[in-house]
Amino acid sequence: MPLDQWFEKNLQIRKEKNLFRALKTSAGLIDFCSNDYLGLARSEILFNLIESRCRAINVKQNGATGSRLLSGNSILTEEVEHKLASIFKGQSALILNSGYTANLAIFSSIPQKHETILFDELAHASIKDGARLSLAHRYSFKHNDLNDLESKLKRVKGKAFVAVESVYSMDGDECPLRELTSLAARYSAIVILDEAHSTGVKGDNGSGLATAMGLERNIDIRLYTFGKAMGIHGACVVGSEKLVQYIINFARPFIYTTAMTPHSIVAIESAFDYLRENMNLQDILQRNIEAFVKSVKHLQNRTLSDSAIQTIIFPGNENVKKASSTLQQAGFDVRPVLSPTVPAGKERLRICLHAYNTLDEISKLTSELKKL
Ligand SMILES: Cc1ncc(COP(=O)(O)O)c(C=O)c1O
Repeated sequence: MPLDQWFEKNLQIRKEKNLFRALKTSAGLIDFCSNDYLGLARSEILFNLIESRCRAINVKQNGATGSRLLSGNSILTEEVEHKLASIFKGQSALILNSGYTANLAIFSSIPQKHETILFDELAHASIKDGARLSLAHRYSFKHNDLNDLESKLKRVKGKAFVAVESVYSMDGDECPLRELTSLAARYSAIVILDEAHSTGVKGDNGSGLATAMGLERNIDIRLYTFGKAMGIHGACVVGSEKLVQYIINFARPFIYTTAMTPHSIVAIESAFDYLRENMNLQDILQRNIEAFVKSVKHLQNRTLSDSAIQTIIFPGNENVKKASSTLQQAGFDVRPVLSPTVPAGKERLRICLHAYNTLDEISKLTSELKKL
């Protein structure tokens, strides 16, 4: 069968299941879908700060020119990593090209054959994909269910790695981090915490949930991403100096790829500097979350979340697509999340709140939601 015909056959099957995806732009709609929780991605001040800092330190190179182990390393990158280690209150930090790559790096290289990865069933695809690249056993446990996790920890022979997120990307709810870390400690399990949706949004200088709760010492491996609330791109792994040395030596998603551009490294440093001077953005976001939650609290089909990610369940792909398109026609950029990304019956509108959404926009959106 010619290749295009084979593509078409598979795409047709997707279309019949109502699962066909296509890239879209959303100019002109009010943003209730991006991960730009604090508005840093659209901040002109941050844009200018990055540009002026690139000029000030005489960044004249467009690309990194190679992987970190070859020509792609620089004093600039190492200095920014020192700053990140200090922001996230860890011994060391290592920058990777994205959160996806960072999870592949961690899970593909650290858990070994005969060891076990236990991941929350709602963990991000990058955690699951990383675990698939590992030779370790891997099992999911029920979402945020410490009894289920404990029953699985009891059965593990050898080292166990517990993979959780501080704020879950689909439901917006938090991991019970204090209880989870003490459970893991009782079984000598290693905790790997993905802070993608709490970086920037929580903690001093956007340092995430673990530091906000004073739990950073109880977590062996932490991952922060910069493409969401930090408004730029990239990620870092934080932990001991030995962890960083290990990833540099053994993690193929770190070793075999071109390093981030100097401009991107300057952007990481600038975004944290900008946030430090604008911490009120966290408060404005919190005010907006509270306004939204208050207004939809009687809706039966909403899930419980105190974060910037809010979801309203509309079972069935057809149903949720229709709800999203009604909101889009009313001027709101709200996207549907379809099965199998979420389990069938749990299809939902995923609403992301931002510091730059006005109370009026939120009130208009919630009125539309109530009409659906
Ligand atoms: C929990 C979680 N981890 C990792 C990632 C991947 O991060 P990045 O977009 O930087 O690749 C995401 C992105 O959606 C995420 O939600």
